[in-house]
Formats: sequence, structure tokens, C-alpha cells
Amino acid sequence: MTVYLNGEFLPESEAKISVLDRGFLFGDGVYEVVPVFGGRLFRLEQHLDRLERSLSAVRIDPPLDRAGWARMLEDLVARNPGDDRSVYLQVTRGVARRDHAFPPDVPPTVFAMVSPIKAPDPALFEQGVSAVTVPDTRWNRCDIKAITLLANILARQQAVEAGAAEAILVRGGFATEGAASNLFVVADGVIVTPPKDTSLLPGITRDLVVELAQQHGLPVMESAIPEASLRDAEEIWLTSSTKEILPVARLDERAVGEGRPGPVWRRMFDLYQDYKRKLRTGEHG
Ligand code: PDD
Repeated sequence: MTVYLNGEFLPESEAKISVLDRGFLFGDGVYEVVPVFGGRLFRLEQHLDRLERSLSAVRIDPPLDRAGWARMLEDLVARNPGDDRSVYLQVTRGVARRDHAFPPDVPPTVFAMVSPIKAPDPALFEQGVSAVTVPDTRWNRCDIKAITLLANILARQQAVEAGAAEAILVRGGFATEGAASNLFVVADGVIVTPPKDTSLLPGITRDLVVELAQQHGLPVMESAIPEASLRDAEEIWLTSSTKEILPVARLDERAVGEGRPGPVWRRMFDLYQDYKRKLRTGEHG
């Protein structure tokens, strides 16, 4: 695998960073995960918008401009041919003697790699996945895509140990999002997802799902989801760049709706696949 590190493309085994990198010592950095379908970076502009917002929020000067990011990522994808993949891109505050405050005049570390996206097991679309609710112990700036992910990791591990695919995080009586995904419910036939604020990551897949619902006349609204509404939901979905739209059939070991993927999920899944297919054939430009 060829990776990108600080201006160079090189084999993964030769890519090395200092033990003093602030990403390693403090988790002081931000990241993006961009899916690649049919060789094309999916919704790249939106991912780069979010990257720029994350960098600005943590006060790291962007090491590349828009065109520079796009060129580098396209070059990296071309050097790692394959089927559906995702690009992981990380920017840290760079290498310096350990001190919490920012080091003066240190260039950020930029790293990017390509990973395969595993095709989901077809049984999953018949049966759905399980999820568990977990208290949201994260900080108050969950809108920043920070590499500092301990609370997300602990929540996901708790889900895995309970035999579930994802943890749904609950804060102050409201369900915010998954450990690494956004949350949708269907209630009285309406698709509902929490509004974008500092309690959750503004997901690119989330925005596309809302956009597709609006374009195709499916009722959709942004509204906070009380834990009780989560438990009463007809359908629950989780969205992310790598998992797309996952139907949740069991929550905390109880059936969601009929206990299998619902009809609104099916319709949205088809719209999403159709959107991807058109992208492959260039119909979206
Ligand atoms: N995670 N919320 C959180 C906390 C996430 O980590 C992610 C994605 C999402 C979904 O965002 P998007 O649709 O833009 O992928 C929501 C990535 C995939 C990851 O950490 O690997």
C-alpha cells in the first residue's frame, strides 16, 4: 500500500513519524474519511468543507489549499487501485517537545492512506443489525472531527461486547448519534434526525440522506430525539461514509418496529444506491 506523508508518496512500511508528534502524545489533530466509489472520491467538496471547519476550530493552519487536497487525494487513490475504498486523512499539530500549549512555528503532520470498504453481508439487509444505548461521555465539541476518540472507542467496544454492531449515545435524555455514525429514526412515518449542533458530527452521509428524502418527497425533519422516542421508533438507521445506511432491528435486545429492516429504510437504501450508481456513470457531474 502506498500512503501519503508530509508531501511524499511512499510504501506504508517506510512511512514513519516522530514519537513527539502531537497526534501521538495528545490526540491533537483532526481527520476525514472519504469513500471512493467507482474510482471517484464521493462528495469530496463536502468532506473538504468539513476538514477546513475542523482545522479552523482547533486552530491548525490548513497545510494545503482546496486544489492541493483534491490533487493529493486523487493521486493517492490512483496509486492504490481497487474496488470500493475509503481514504483516511489525518492532520496533527506537528512534532514538538511535549507541552500542552501550541508550539510556535511547527508545520502540521499530514498523513493519508487508502483502505478497502468491506461489502456488507447481504443477510444484514434482511435481518438488520443490533444496537445498544450507551451514555454519551464525550466532550462538548462533537462537531469537530477530532482524532481524540477515546469515548467513541469505549462506547463501540461496549456494543461489540454486547454482541451489537453500534452504540447509540444518549446525553441528557436525548439520543445524539452512534459511536461512529449518525442517527435516524422513523416515527409516525416521518424520518427524523437530530439537528446539527455541537453534540454530534455533521455527517456527510446524513446530509445526503436528508437531501435525498427532500428531493423524493419523503417526509423528513430535523428534531432532537428523546430516548423514549428512540425506543418507540418504527425504524432506526445509522449512517456513515463506510457503512452507508444501516437498518437497526434490535435495540437493547428488544425488537425495533417489526424487528427487521423497515419499508422507509428500503426506499432510502434504494435511493442511495441509485445516487451512487449515477455518480459512477457520471450523471451527477
Ligand atoms: N466516522 N458520527 C461520528 C461520531 C462519526 O465518527 C462518523 C463517521 C459519523 C458519520 O459521518 P460521515 O457520514 O461523514 O462518515 C457520524 C468515520 C467513518 C470513522 O471514524 O471511521
